[in-house]
Amino acid sequence: MEILKASIKDYDLIHAIAVPSWQHTYSSILSAEQLDYMLTLMYSHDAITEQISIKGHHFLLAAEDGQYLGFASYEINSVYEATKIHKLYVLPGAQGRGVGKALVTVIENTAKAHGNNKLLLNVNRYNPAVNFYLKTGFAKIGQEDINIGNGYLMEDYIMQKPL
Ligand SMILES: CC(C)(COP(=O)(O)OP(=O)(O)OC[C@H]1O[C@@H](n2cnc3c(N)ncnc32)[C@H](O)[C@@H]1OP(=O)(O)O)[C@@H](O)C(=O)NCCC(=O)NCCS
Repeated sequence: MEILKASIKDYDLIHAIAVPSWQHTYSSILSAEQLDYMLTLMYSHDAITEQISIKGHHFLLAAEDGQYLGFASYEINSVYEATKIHKLYVLPGAQGRGVGKALVTVIENTAKAHGNNKLLLNVNRYNPAVNFYLKTGFAKIGQEDINIGNGYLMEDYIMQKPL
């Protein structure tokens, strides 16, 4: 498996992984309306362009045998000496084969190389991915409900992994 740096030129690849992964993950957690609203808010071409060129998010793609299986985004020094994982999605058919762990490992190594000493992320409190994060060394350090407009909330745990 290869983990590759991605840019806005890879938007279509990222979006093509995000849509089925989101449907698979969130259709039992969020209403269809909230899911569509959040996909547009966070995955439109404009939104990803802003994340990369203004907010300083870096994207990675995981590929195997010419197939793109997953992606992640992260921000070094999101807060003092901490790297935040903003996105981590693996295609439903490719989950459980080490793709997620490989993406997190590259982010960990990059964070350490920049002098950061922890990883942070938010995950929906009802998402089984919480157990993936617990398994890979994260701990829950809090929770928050974030108002994302249109009457919708993100009901998240905040998780942290010391490096
Ligand atoms: C969560 C996700 C990124 C994990 O990636 P993955 O490639 O499926 O996981 P991996 O194969 O790398 O798993 C690494 C370890 O975690 C375990 N694991 C993976 N998913 C798990 C889960 N839901 N519950 C418990 N353990 C899990 C694996 O068994 C493996 O354990 P091992 O090291 O003992 O073999 C992926 O399943 C995914 O994209 N899920 C849907 C989208 C999502 O919820 N993303 C997170 C948004 S915050």
